[in-house]
Amino acid sequence: MTDTAASTPTDLAAFIEGLPKCELHVHLEGTLAPDLKLALAQRNGLDIGQTTVEEVEATYQFDSLTSFLAVYYPAMGVLVTAEDFSDLAYAYLAKAASLGVRYVEMFFDPQAHTGRGVPFSTVIQGYRQGIVRARAELGISGELILCFLRDLSAEFAMATLMEALPYKEWIIGIGLDSDERGNPPSKFAAVFARARQEGWQLTMHCDIDQEGSIEHIRQALQEIGVDRIDHGTNIVESPALVAEAKERGVGFTCCPVSNSFVTADMKADEIVSLLRDGVRVTVNSDDPAYFGGYMTENYAALAAHAGLDAGEVLALARNAFEVAWLTPRARDGYLAELDAYAARHGVTG
Ligand code: ADE
Ligand code: ZN
Repeated sequence: MTDTAASTPTDLAAFIEGLPKCELHVHLEGTLAPDLKLALAQRNGLDIGQTTVEEVEATYQFDSLTSFLAVYYPAMGVLVTAEDFSDLAYAYLAKAASLGVRYVEMFFDPQAHTGRGVPFSTVIQGYRQGIVRARAELGISGELILCFLRDLSAEFAMATLMEALPYKEWIIGIGLDSDERGNPPSKFAAVFARARQEGWQLTMHCDIDQEGSIEHIRQALQEIGVDRIDHGTNIVESPALVAEAKERGVGFTCCPVSNSFVTADMKADEIVSLLRDGVRVTVNSDDPAYFGGYMTENYAALAAHAGLDAGEVLALARNAFEVAWLTPRARDGYLAELDAYAARHGVTG
């Protein structure tokens, strides 16, 4: 691995900034920045109990997945109309584009909206509108991953899958998020089998340091047959599962800044050990409005903490394009862009 040009921290920051990036783990509802939350509350005539950005920011406080989710779900109440969902997606995509993100696969949680009376069609049509607008105006491409809330029933998940079928072209894959405790992947085996039959790609959250993390990762890999795992770095505890994930080319969507909020550290050692073992780990932002770190901050935090060189940063970006659910032609285009950028900076990975 050579690293000639981007060898000082300042150079590395600039290298990360300009790097063509791919984000695979971002929750659209987790991109609800305090200013947009206030603006949407005002537009919908809702009293959310805060009237300034600082007051909203002060409510974004948590130290675990459970305490984060307790703030996160009520905040979504300001999303009511298709225009709200469109504005949220567009605002995130504009921010991502300004940071050099070229392609993104974004989670959305329809049950967090249908469960409070917002129709599925409103949610997906709004998000899709924001994506189409961002593509036309800013050149960034995006796709949607429908996530089931794992703390709700498998029956509700299946009913949601049925509601999604008419919008198949707008959904690239199916995921699983929310509170993992007591909600293993196997609970959703039938729903994910049906999603696979429908031709969707599959991913699942295996959050960090959960009760039964390793068993959940095993189920996701062996019983569900996922294409990717979101987080999942506890896999380092099982060399046999690491070998299996590597052999199958399974992607891991890691979120260093988010990790440092909901656990004791950013899990840099685990991420870098997997990277150096040849597992396809990637860097992502998760819920950037809540954790305060978008893509560049996540790359920079991991690089600084683990002492990565530019070649390793490049390898992380390459992994993301490689495990993204792109057509071969689109993937080749992004990889060529990445290679040209690296060559201009004298970096090889
Ligand atoms: N929903 C939003 N972010 C999440 C995360 N990191 N884990 C589980 N559910 C989530
Ligand atoms: Zn997540």
